[in-house]
Amino acid sequence: MPITKYFLPFSIILLLVISCQKTPQSIATSEVQLGEKLFFDPILSRDSTISCASCHKPEHAFADIAPTSKGVLNQMGKRNTPSCMNMSARNFYFWDGRAETLEEQAMGPIENPVEMDLPLTIAVKRLKENEYYYTSFVSVYGQKPSKELLTKAIAEFERTLETSKTPFDKFMREDDSSALTASAIRGLALFNGKGKCFDCHFGVDFTGNDQFRSLGLYNGKDLNDKGRFDVTKKETDLGKFKVPGLRNIAMTAPYMHNGMHKTLMDVINYYDEPNKFVKNSINRDSLLNKPLGLGENEKKDLENFLLSLTDERFKK
Ligand code: HEC
Ligand code: HEC
Repeated sequence: MPITKYFLPFSIILLLVISCQKTPQSIATSEVQLGEKLFFDPILSRDSTISCASCHKPEHAFADIAPTSKGVLNQMGKRNTPSCMNMSARNFYFWDGRAETLEEQAMGPIENPVEMDLPLTIAVKRLKENEYYYTSFVSVYGQKPSKELLTKAIAEFERTLETSKTPFDKFMREDDSSALTASAIRGLALFNGKGKCFDCHFGVDFTGNDQFRSLGLYNGKDLNDKGRFDVTKKETDLGKFKVPGLRNIAMTAPYMHNGMHKTLMDVINYYDEPNKFVKNSINRDSLLNKPLGLGENEKKDLENFLLSLTDERFKK
């Protein structure tokens, strides 16, 4: 039998097999795609077990459901993993605001000994030795992987994680009065008025211009995270934390820098009467000096308002 008879079909099949294996995985076609791949890849941790997404879980609005998260070798961190959505308008990152850009922020967890524990030089070396990353960096940036480009790609991916399709936005921006229930509308009024929430949580993402405030979750004893003080060393910053955004807040329990509140109702009960939860707190904001005196229905209304801040992508 002449071998040439099989040669053409055989070589076509061979080409098809090769191209199927190569195309989808072989190269990132954009900076965001490259950043996304890096965000989900445990290659950036010492023992290749932990990725950014291990703690920032996409189905929980890129936050964690545990009070504090596990890093490499099952080590526990000290603070609750916040959402990393709606980050592009932030002036500060981390609970204490120790980073001022997303690029700078991204270096933190990679090198943090209880998170990914990988020196950036080794991370870059790994990416250079990995065919997918080497060719992708060259294709996207025209340059080999480097510390700057690694963090730039991740930051660009994070900048795509903006959410604004919520019942609240429909109500406010599209003037759709049916988007919120009567209870949520009453909750909005409480948020802006009696609850004093808006005094700190104002602005499009409710971060109050990224100010640092203290809810009194520091007493120097069992509650001993000094927060912003660690960055500025000013006594007045003891126990202050960055005002967190409230978008998708229903997805990101537990709450606060230490994950102490399990539900939104726990948070509301805290604001209603902080003294019931924390005795001898140091440096608590004067806005929380007096109990709010919220009735049970008012608490429910406030909760319903907070639930209206969930983006439609998380609706089942
Ligand atoms: C082991 C769990 C863990 C891993 C892995 C992790 N993070 Fe985080 N992330 C946290 C915690 C905890 C904080 C808050 C820490 C603090 O404030 O000191 C945080 C904070 C952040 C913030 C700041 C959010 C804000 O509101 O200021 C961003 C952005 C972020 N992480 C992105 C990343 C990226 C990108 C990676 C991967 C390179 C990553 N994280 C890996 C747990 C983790
Ligand atoms: C004095 C400023 C201030 C006021 C008033 C205030 N907040 Fe906050 N809020 C903060 C700060 C700061 C934090 C983070 C504190 C921490 O972790 O120690 C926070 C945390 C939260 C969280 C948890 C966020 C997360 O990701 O863990 C929710 C929910 C919340 N606030 C809702 C409200 C509601 C509802 C009200 C009104 C009843 C309110 N806040 C009033 C400053 C304020």
